[in-house]
Amino acid sequence: MEVRGVSYCYISPKGERFKALKDINLRIRPGEFIALIGVNGSGKSTLAKLFNAMIIPSKGWVRVNGLRTDVPAHKWEIRKLVGMVFQNPENQIVASIVEEDVAFGPENLGLSRREILKRVNESLEAVGLKGYNKWPADALSGGQKQRVAIAGSIALKPDYLVLDEPTAMLDCRGRAEILKVLKQLSWKQGISVVLITHSLEEALLAERIILLDGGRIIKDFSPKDLFKNTSLLEELGVGKLPISVLAERLARCGFKPPGNLVTLDDMVDWICSFA
Ligand SMILES: Nc1ncnc2c1ncn2[C@@H]1O[C@H](COP(=O)(O)OP(=O)(O)OP(=O)(O)O)[C@@H](O)[C@H]1O
Ligand SMILES: [Mg+2]
Repeated sequence: MEVRGVSYCYISPKGERFKALKDINLRIRPGEFIALIGVNGSGKSTLAKLFNAMIIPSKGWVRVNGLRTDVPAHKWEIRKLVGMVFQNPENQIVASIVEEDVAFGPENLGLSRREILKRVNESLEAVGLKGYNKWPADALSGGQKQRVAIAGSIALKPDYLVLDEPTAMLDCRGRAEILKVLKQLSWKQGISVVLITHSLEEALLAERIILLDGGRIIKDFSPKDLFKNTSLLEELGVGKLPISVLAERLARCGFKPPGNLVTLDDMVDWICSFA
């Protein structure tokens, strides 16, 4: 996926233009796990919508596997290639029984009954819900519903999965389940995963962390770089890394961590050196 020189303007009901994204350049490689972070209104959801042609750039272009999103004839192919999962699991379940819900997308592709069933079973297994085919969607927890939503997306065999704050409404356990599934989809199935999140802890699971601010990409970090830029994250209001919070607390107790600690492993080694 390639995004080149992209800007996006919303037009208010009064006809005023608001530039939500400015000169975005980005390339997403197969199987990459990317986290997209930034404060409220920084443009994360707008960028996500550009990925699967829900909206078209005001300037510049987006290309998915060579197909430009601004060509209307490419729209349906792009929607198949780029799956989207949103925040609220309740809004994404379209059928009352799990297997009917997961089958919804493949049925619209006109696939054979046998292929649909195969995809439903494979997708449910991939999200850790093997055997839940006949369950009523109502009987599932929020985390399970969100995993059904992911199964519905991957049943279309996308190359990219874009998730806009998929864990925001889940508890700790639901979050952990979703994150485990996402890692597996990227590692085992080679799906490129773009996870939009307000949690820096979640972002650290990604191989690449993209920071948006005021509609621009401010940084494209590796997790290690993120540790080195904790003050930037705090200045922008994105939040504190759990490791920074721990370092501050230890310093208050008289154990000031040395300046060369950048990763959680470094921190663990340093703490263990007291044992
Ligand atoms: N439909 C719209 N019409 C006008 N302005 C919009 C519309 N949708 C978003 N915006 C504006 O565009 C900017 C970027 O919004 P966007 O939803 O992409 O941010 P975000 O980073 O996803 O924020 P959040 O963390 O709150 O979800 C914001 O200033 C927002 O108010
Ligand atoms: Mg958003």
